[in-house]
Amino acid sequence: MVTPIFLATPGSDFSHRVETYQQRIDRKLERVLPSAAVFPEHLHEAMRYAVLAGGKRVRPLLTFACGEALGLSLDLLDAPATAVELIHAFSLVHDDLPAMDNDELRRGRPTVHIAFDEATAILAGDALQALAFEVLAHDPPLSAHPAMQTRMIGRLAAAAGSVGMTGGQAQDLQSEGQQLSCDQLRLMHERKTGLLIQAATMMACDAQPDLDAGTRRAIESFARQIGLAFQVCDDILDIESPTEMLGKPQGSDAAAAKATYPAVMGLPGAKAYLQELHEAALAALTDLSINTQPLSWMADYITQRNH
Ligand code: IPE
Ligand code: IPE
Ligand code: MG
Ligand code: MG
Ligand code: MG
Repeated sequence: MVTPIFLATPGSDFSHRVETYQQRIDRKLERVLPSAAVFPEHLHEAMRYAVLAGGKRVRPLLTFACGEALGLSLDLLDAPATAVELIHAFSLVHDDLPAMDNDELRRGRPTVHIAFDEATAILAGDALQALAFEVLAHDPPLSAHPAMQTRMIGRLAAAAGSVGMTGGQAQDLQSEGQQLSCDQLRLMHERKTGLLIQAATMMACDAQPDLDAGTRRAIESFARQIGLAFQVCDDILDIESPTEMLGKPQGSDAAAAKATYPAVMGLPGAKAYLQELHEAALAALTDLSINTQPLSWMADYITQRNH
């Protein structure tokens, strides 16, 4: 069955939560980013520009949604939610650089290397990555739980590094103009996008060390499916959604001959696969004794969005 397209229908329980969580994360990001009045002003201004205006905040939303599903206090989740968004913002700044995707529009505004300059964009990305780990290492509520804190730091580092997002990005660049098999494409998308989304979700599980192994495995499986689904959807939107809706250039993937799901499977094949992943994600949540609704809402949001 095809569920109606929605993006957090205004007035619904879900849209209310999305708004509350987005405001919470925006406040936290605003607080941890150095002021643009502090030296080096230009770099701090670029970091704030990269992070603060716009963005769906999907990764922090997942951290909070998973925390809510587990009945956790959100105080322990502010730091991981903030850190994962900072890593994501860093990845976007570098992804847009001329040496990578060479895109000039992001979140409806000029990309960081256009609004500032290339060197500043590289440095802003570097500093955002470092700031993510500083936030995790210095957060007062989390620092009261060192084992939990260390687990989150290790998880986020692995998801961001050469066997995670950065490695996936390397593979993405190497694969331009090439025909990948479905398995190669899946591995690449899991690395460049899926693992950070998995980390966002699983850091909430890290905040509950006595979580039973079955529930942890089920949430991990859920996160794996939606992490991949997120990039499959991004590939589809690159073809189908206009630039004004996306806030980034429509057709950027085709222009760079990127290896994407529509390129490998065709557009109908990619859409069918997205639906399959959505259903598999929801199936992973059945029979759990937690409140799975925030997670299933997130799965709907991620697979049915229009930007
Ligand atoms: C775009 O991510 C990059 C991908 C990993 C596909 P988002 O679609 O989450 O971008 P923002 O944060 O909402 O701008
Ligand atoms: C980017 O994938 C994944 C990252 C790790 C940033 P894309 O290159 O498809 O992301 P967009 O479409 O530019 O946002
Ligand atoms: Mg890219
Ligand atoms: Mg890109
Ligand atoms: Mg894309």
